[in-house]
Amino acid sequence: MSGLFITLEGPEGAGKSTNREYLAARLKEHGIEVVLSREPGGTPLAERIRELLLTPSDEVMNSDTELLLVFAARAQHLAEVIRPALRRGAVVLCDRFTDATYAYQGGGRGLSEARIAELERFVQGGLRPDLTLVFDLPVEVGLARAAARGRLDRFEQEGQGFFEAVRQAYLQRATQAPERYRVLDAAQSLERVQRDIDAVLPLILERCRG
Ligand SMILES: Nc1ncnc2c1ncn2[C@@H]1O[C@H](COP(=O)(O)OP(=O)(O)OP(=O)(O)O)[C@@H](O)[C@H]1O
Ligand SMILES: [Mg+2]
Repeated sequence: MSGLFITLEGPEGAGKSTNREYLAARLKEHGIEVVLSREPGGTPLAERIRELLLTPSDEVMNSDTELLLVFAARAQHLAEVIRPALRRGAVVLCDRFTDATYAYQGGGRGLSEARIAELERFVQGGLRPDLTLVFDLPVEVGLARAAARGRLDRFEQEGQGFFEAVRQAYLQRATQAPERYRVLDAAQSLERVQRDIDAVLPLILERCRG
């Protein structure tokens, strides 16, 4: 038995966490074991690395340092949570994964795709998500939702240009491999977004049984 690895991607405030809960509930109704996780993080050690990445600091973090920390956390998360869950046949719903690295460290910070791909191979081997839901929305809308939540983390303090680059990187990746991605219009009401998720559900269930 091998599980299914589904990732939820998109900028801050896009609705990843909200809709991850929704999708998990739908899958559990079908008796499927669902493992919820997130990146950076997902294990105690990886969550400590998350703190390093998100906490604003006077010392500017070098972009390569940021990239390596993201993949260090990912190595731990894969070893401790994701691979064991997939081996058990569970569906893993992960809030952000390597597409976020291409979007934030690639698009946002300007690191080369080739550099990221090298680490992706090193840390993941051949493992890639089976399906990625991209929650797409205009930058202002996401930032307004994130700001409404309170204090901004190290990434949320970036400007509009950074998030435009993040958004474009996500959309470009989805265009390059349309079989793996579903781009959802996250600016719609939550009800409508969840209807779009319902529309993807048969595909997920079919692959679970597959
Ligand atoms: N479609 C929607 N319409 C209006 N508000 C929404 C919608 N989806 C989510 N929200 C609200 O926006 C806020 C951010 O949603 P959520 O935390 O799910 O986003 P996220 O993508 O997980 O963000 P982050 O990357 O910062 O964790 C929450 O208050 C949530 O209730
Ligand atoms: Mg979230």
